Amino acid sequence: MENLPSAAYPGLFVTLEGGEGSGKTTLLNELAARLEAHTPITRTGEPGRSGIGPTLRALILNNDTTPLTPETEALLLAADRAQHVNDIIRPALANGHTVLCDRYADSSIAYQGIARGLGHQRIADLNEWATRQLVPDLTILLDINPEDGLARRYAAGNLNRLDQEEIDFHRAVRAAYLALADQHRPRFLVLPAHNSTSTNAHLASQEILKRLHLKHAEAQDHNPAQ
Ligand code: TYD
Repeated sequence: MENLPSAAYPGLFVTLEGGEGSGKTTLLNELAARLEAHTPITRTGEPGRSGIGPTLRALILNNDTTPLTPETEALLLAADRAQHVNDIIRPALANGHTVLCDRYADSSIAYQGIARGLGHQRIADLNEWATRQLVPDLTILLDINPEDGLARRYAAGNLNRLDQEEIDFHRAVRAAYLALADQHRPRFLVLPAHNSTSTNAHLASQEILKRLHLKHAEAQDHNPAQ
């Protein structure tokens, strides 16, 4: 697969990010339903969607495997991401699909870089290397207070290794996400997770459609014959 930057693909690359229990998956379902009439959609997420993804996901998240060092955890997530980008995300973008991806590189910066303490820049460099510099066109951050998010998660049951970290870990994840959104403002749309799903789906789908139109207009400018 050719390694173009996301701006060079006909498809739009959208990621959804947020702490535990922020409702990303519900929002993603609602967004896919609203956008289907406008654009072909590829739904995906991390960790675990490439061919080797389920094996890596089990190693990363299962409670019954041996504890991982933070470095091992970060490298397994990066391996999953490298394969996912190559096998699923780039081909979908090249086909003109809007990719809706539940977690991506910002998750590793927030969880492994900041909350686990491996360092923002080190994980940003690892992401850049693993993805051959594929950065999303748009990142939707569902911002949630970790107490509320974890309460939802505990009520749903089936907790993974990361859900069970201390509250301070989850506070650090939230602060890291908000700092990332501040740093990369044009890429991020921050939505409060306590809004209704339909409010957030409306706001997010309007933003996605706006960026799709911009992308198509830019492609026409570069190639008026199309
Ligand atoms: P998952 O069950 O997929 O659910 P959700 O996205 O709804 O939380 O859990 C994935 C877990 O993996 C989640 O706790 C966040 C964590 N994670 C990282 O720590 N770093 C990463 O780079 C990614 C992609 C996920």
